[in-house]
Amino acid sequence: MEATKKQIILTGDRPTGRLHLGHFVGSLMRRVELQNSGKFDEINILIADDQALTDNADNPGKIRDNIINVVLDYLSAGIDPGKSTICIQSALPALHALTFYYMNLVTTARLSRNPTVKAEIQMRGFADEGLPAGFFAYPVSQAADITAFDATVVPVGEDQLPMIEQTREIVEKFNKVYGDTLVLPNALIPENATQRRLPGVDGKAKMSKSLGNCIYLSDDAKTVKKQINGKMFTDPQHLRIEDPGHLEGNVVFTYLDAFCTPEHFSRYLPDYRNLDEMKEHYQRGGLGDGTCKKFLFQVLEEILTPIRDARAKWEKDIDTVYDILRDGTEKAAEKTNQTLARVRSAMRINYFDDRKIVKEWQALLKAAKQ
Ligand code: TRP
Repeated sequence: MEATKKQIILTGDRPTGRLHLGHFVGSLMRRVELQNSGKFDEINILIADDQALTDNADNPGKIRDNIINVVLDYLSAGIDPGKSTICIQSALPALHALTFYYMNLVTTARLSRNPTVKAEIQMRGFADEGLPAGFFAYPVSQAADITAFDATVVPVGEDQLPMIEQTREIVEKFNKVYGDTLVLPNALIPENATQRRLPGVDGKAKMSKSLGNCIYLSDDAKTVKKQINGKMFTDPQHLRIEDPGHLEGNVVFTYLDAFCTPEHFSRYLPDYRNLDEMKEHYQRGGLGDGTCKKFLFQVLEEILTPIRDARAKWEKDIDTVYDILRDGTEKAAEKTNQTLARVRSAMRINYFDDRKIVKEWQALLKAAKQ
């Protein structure tokens, strides 16, 4: 059966905590832009609670609690439930069935080469403690997520590229073995390199809750200021304002690279026309870290204030948020069930779609007797 040729987006997050600026520049901001571009027939956003359980089996309460945090972050950042479907993974049984079939199309050797999973295994200490099979295989379940929606475009952060690669391999294998059934997806990652991988405020490679180096979308202004003034890594050699400053590894400038625009300069720091001029002054000497941090705070506040205000409104109406999730999940269930039916039909395991197989079996038995 021919799959649809519509432009369809599927993306998602594990609900393990509130979303931070890394999520925002790495994917959420882009999703809102894509949503509002009007270029897509469908936008689906999956709250990947099943995937979150693959390394939180002993703590389902944490996942349950964070579903509301993640949905509030989506809605506050501008995801519009009228344009985008927000749904919960565990309530979509078609995804489980697809995962089970796709498991047979990938080898354990291939799964162990996935660099993102490899790094996560290291980080979580699974190499010593034992690796949950579900965690090891989660890229297969992610392939099910993507293909179940017939996604053509998957907007994600850079760390997710191996998952899309693996999904494409599964699609190609499936279509080769069972005939053309699944849609081949493409990843869409931010063009700006710093947006692809925003470091923590301390300069560590990634924002992470356990390192305490995040700025969350739901942080108040005081907390944001504290993270910038108290923790943000700059240039340890830049002791006096007159000293030349270095940009490499300087988180204030990394964040400015990711977030500031020339308009921010005209509003808050009219001494410079753009970031290049500011950087040039910093490197020459004479521009203090305090000034740079204050500017960054203003830039971030311009982004965070409307998100914070929207969150305060949504927080007062959790009943509506619940309905948004339930409606989105119902819609997604319909869609993913259709894909599963198409997959089962391609595999010829759709035994109860009709009684054709009765004739087939009868003919088979008759032929065996001749
Ligand atoms: N693995 C993604 C993450 O950790 C979350 C995710 C689950 C996802 N299913 C997806 C992303 C499907 C894109 C498409 O952030």
